[in-house]
Amino acid sequence: MTRGRLITLEGGEGAGKSTQIRALDSALSTHGIAVTTTREPGGTPHAETIRGLLLNSEPGTFDGMTQALLHYAARREHLRQTILPALEEGGWVLSDRFSDSTMAYQGYGAGLGRDLIEALHTIAIGTFKPDLTVILDLSSERSQVRLDTRAEDRNAYELLDQAFHDRVRAGFLDIARREPDRCIVVDATLPEAAVTAAIFEAIEDKLGLP
Ligand code: TMP
Repeated sequence: MTRGRLITLEGGEGAGKSTQIRALDSALSTHGIAVTTTREPGGTPHAETIRGLLLNSEPGTFDGMTQALLHYAARREHLRQTILPALEEGGWVLSDRFSDSTMAYQGYGAGLGRDLIEALHTIAIGTFKPDLTVILDLSSERSQVRLDTRAEDRNAYELLDQAFHDRVRAGFLDIARREPDRCIVVDATLPEAAVTAAIFEAIEDKLGLP
């Protein structure tokens, strides 16, 4: 059996990841691919418990290092229990966030730096990386406008200031620059259908369809 593929969607707040995951799920399913959609932090019952700890706390409850450790503890569970079994069965997995979020938010945003996050990645999950990472790029100003129109309460990260979110955005763009084979950047201000089309083209181009 051919191993499936992991595609991750990344980006700042309100970039439209969930909408795109739904669109890609249906597009890939029509190609006969068995798709699992999932998210981080989360994707297993225990990892969802860690998500609650991280997102429902007051900003500043955990320092950047504790956050990074909790995100990687959740990720290791997610990988072992959800992602790897699906890939081994030949399915494709679409994850709303993965390891690049820890690099962008804790490495660049909270200032832990690349080396520390890379070391933690190796300790927690070895050399595992997604097959394709889509970075939905949006300015922090546009992101704030989108958050303002949403009904839900803001999570601990959404409450952080614009300077933090500017560092996160720069972090994602730097990751894409360093790993152009794995990452694509898509302008999140384009109409939804144009974003989906750009992602689908990258999937065909970089991964091919069965
Ligand atoms: P979201 O599901 O609405 O994107 O919320 C998840 C939040 O958690 C988001 O603000 C980004 C943050 N986060 C990190 O800071 N580090 C991580 O490793 C992950 C996966 C998410």
